[in-house]
Amino acid sequence: MQYTILIIDDEKNIREGLAAALELEDYTVALAADGKAGLERIQKGDIDLVITDLRMPKISGEQVLAKIAAENPGIPVIVLTGHGSIDSAVDAMRNGAYDFLTKPLNLDQLILIVKRALQGRELALKHKELQEELNSRKSFESIIGKSAEMQRIFETVRKAASSKASVLITGESGVGKELIANALHNLSPRHENPMIKVHCAALSESLLESELFGHEKGAFTGALARKRGRFELAHKGTIFLDEIGEIDQNVQIKILRVLQDKRFERVGGEETVEVDVRLITATNRDLEKEVAEGRFREDLYYRLNVVHIHVPPLRERRDDIPLLITAFLQEFAKENGKNIEGIDARARAALYKFDWPGNIRQLRNCLESAVVMCSGSVIKLEDLPPTIAGNAEADSIAVPAGITMAEAEKIIIRQNLAINKGNKSKTADILGIGRKTLHRKLDEYAEEDGNAT
Ligand SMILES: Nc1ncnc2c1ncn2[C@@H]1O[C@H](COP(=O)(O)OP(=O)(O)OP(=O)(O)O)[C@@H](O)[C@H]1O
Ligand SMILES: [Mg+2]
Repeated sequence: MQYTILIIDDEKNIREGLAAALELEDYTVALAADGKAGLERIQKGDIDLVITDLRMPKISGEQVLAKIAAENPGIPVIVLTGHGSIDSAVDAMRNGAYDFLTKPLNLDQLILIVKRALQGRELALKHKELQEELNSRKSFESIIGKSAEMQRIFETVRKAASSKASVLITGESGVGKELIANALHNLSPRHENPMIKVHCAALSESLLESELFGHEKGAFTGALARKRGRFELAHKGTIFLDEIGEIDQNVQIKILRVLQDKRFERVGGEETVEVDVRLITATNRDLEKEVAEGRFREDLYYRLNVVHIHVPPLRERRDDIPLLITAFLQEFAKENGKNIEGIDARARAALYKFDWPGNIRQLRNCLESAVVMCSGSVIKLEDLPPTIAGNAEADSIAVPAGITMAEAEKIIIRQNLAINKGNKSKTADILGIGRKTLHRKLDEYAEEDGNAT
């Protein structure tokens, strides 16, 4: 994709220097000598990124930034600040700038920032597209996923749904195993009959046994009446045993017998109960390992695993993240009665990069909280929980190759300061240096910058 970058600066030298450097990288460049001309140029609608000076005649860089943030929040803005004006840079970041650079400019660093911002921009542009996609294609049984991995899973679900074969669904916590179990039932010929769910880890051994198979009156203390078990309740339908890896050997044998003989006895009873049940199981354990280590019966494992669906963690199918973001934003905006138009480039990039150990559940919770925290109509980096926002920021410090330690230190210190919104004590703590050292270094940098211009 060919990107167009608008440079707004009243200094001709800077405009042209930047233009030359960006054109070398194959970007199309547009120039404006002041804020007013710059804003007019943006109206044309083909600008993907803006680099603007802060101090300019007529309309200042701050005003340009405010206007873009309000009218074109998807366009990342990189601000250029003069020497010693870290405060205005920090303000600009707070007001939605993507990043800042101090003059004299380090062009390599600029190019890196531009590249990263445009990656985020590309994702942002997709938001609209994604919303349309979500609306038109809908999702598969309310499971969202366009990645090749999820498409394969949908295909397996479609095929397996019509059969009675047992399905084992594996994957980390929060990947959507239960949604897949629901889809298998809903698309099956049994969908008008019950789907009964049992969370095996939540029940003790004896309770689980009577939950699953029921009990006769007087079977144990407290068994005041006959109770039908979940297998009986699921007759002609589906039973979903979640966390199957947690059940002990005694219950494993009984389940094996239901699968083999389609019959069982209630706890404390003689009568044989016959059932026609489709079994779906799920676990986030490695069942093969459990079998190898003797904790899970091998014969049962093979019976459960007739069809195996492994759901990969979200970090291995990041292609699904944009569509999930769109869907969850829509859902929570509606739920909270808020008008959320989208998510800015930095926040989107942070969500895209995060590793999501809690998978989709965690992404969903994160977006719910972001919608609640968001005070405008666009989700920003600071609306995200700190673990996620902070992770993105840590990633976003670019230190170009070929510079001295002193120069690298300067970049690291200044960018950390901006990330921490100008909070010097916090920055010093994070960097593991004393506050006095930090102050001294900042003064030195201001002086260096002053000498250089
Ligand atoms: N592909 C998806 N599209 C939309 N929502 C999803 C998707 N995958 C998961 N979710 C949502 O994420 C949450 C967790 O999903 P689910 O309960 O199915 O995960 P799980 O794999 O069963 O997790 P656990 O092992 O912790 O039980 C739910 O709110 C679910 O609606
Ligand atoms: Mg689950």
